Amino acid sequence: MLLEGRVAIITGAASGIGRATARRFAREGAAVVIADIDRDGGNACVSEIVDDGGRAIFVETDVSRESDLRNMVETAIRTYGGLDILHNNAFWLGVGSARDVSEEAWQRTLAVTLTAVWQGSKLAIPHLLRSPAGVILNTASVHSIVGLTGSAAYQAAKGGVLSLTRAMSLELAPKVRVIAILPGAIETPATDRSPPDSHEEFLRKVPMRRIGQANEIASVAAFLASDEASYITGTGIVVDGGYTTG
Ligand SMILES: NC(=O)c1ccc[n+]([C@@H]2O[C@H](COP(=O)([O-])OP(=O)(O)OC[C@H]3O[C@@H](n4cnc5c(N)ncnc54)[C@H](O)[C@@H]3O)[C@@H](O)[C@H]2O)c1
Repeated sequence: MLLEGRVAIITGAASGIGRATARRFAREGAAVVIADIDRDGGNACVSEIVDDGGRAIFVETDVSRESDLRNMVETAIRTYGGLDILHNNAFWLGVGSARDVSEEAWQRTLAVTLTAVWQGSKLAIPHLLRSPAGVILNTASVHSIVGLTGSAAYQAAKGGVLSLTRAMSLELAPKVRVIAILPGAIETPATDRSPPDSHEEFLRKVPMRRIGQANEIASVAAFLASDEASYITGTGIVVDGGYTTG
């Protein structure tokens, strides 16, 4: 098992990519803290993991609140005695182009999608430095590196996540590895919420001619969080069916 004996926090793990990754990490031997604002989804994810023979707890967390992030980290330490992996994955997307996005949508998007990555990491770093194999894994996006209309705040935030990944990797090497995953179009409740025409436009540009599955991100996340990826840090791994190649 890739993550035997490790303790991992995953934010946004009540749904989609985070939930698939939590299940995968648990199958790979990690004890998992599911951190999300969605209590029902979070508890359901815990049940799936426990039914599967794994270890997990749910900690209700709004990642835009420093006190919640502090509680998330402290609960992980109290429950499992340490922390090896922080997976910053929760996001918020306030819709709008740079010309028409509201200030409220901009601020909320930046708070949940970018500031929380910094603040959660800041709180976790002292514990990760005590781990023999500390890892911060950040879910960025292909839109950290290529543009799209209609989601200026989200793209600004995701660009920031990739830059912050690089900055933290330099600050924390060689003790803690810091890596971003850049998913392309992945089938999750989030993509189900996006307009069908944007979906089709996106798919036309994917050489693999299909949308990705959350499990296809989870397997990369498990690899990157494990010792199998021990020489990977400070970079973004693109998992997009070739979308950014064309
Ligand atoms: N699905 C895609 O096509 C795609 C593409 C690129 C990047 N991503 C990234 O993947 C990550 C996961 O997205 P997903 O598609 O699985 O979405 P999702 O909507 O299925 O899951 C997102 C989770 O984040 C939680 N969340 C939202 N606000 C929160 C907050 N303030 N505090 C804590 N949790 C909060 C939600 O409750 C939900 O459980 C995100 O970072 C997203 O930007 C997804």
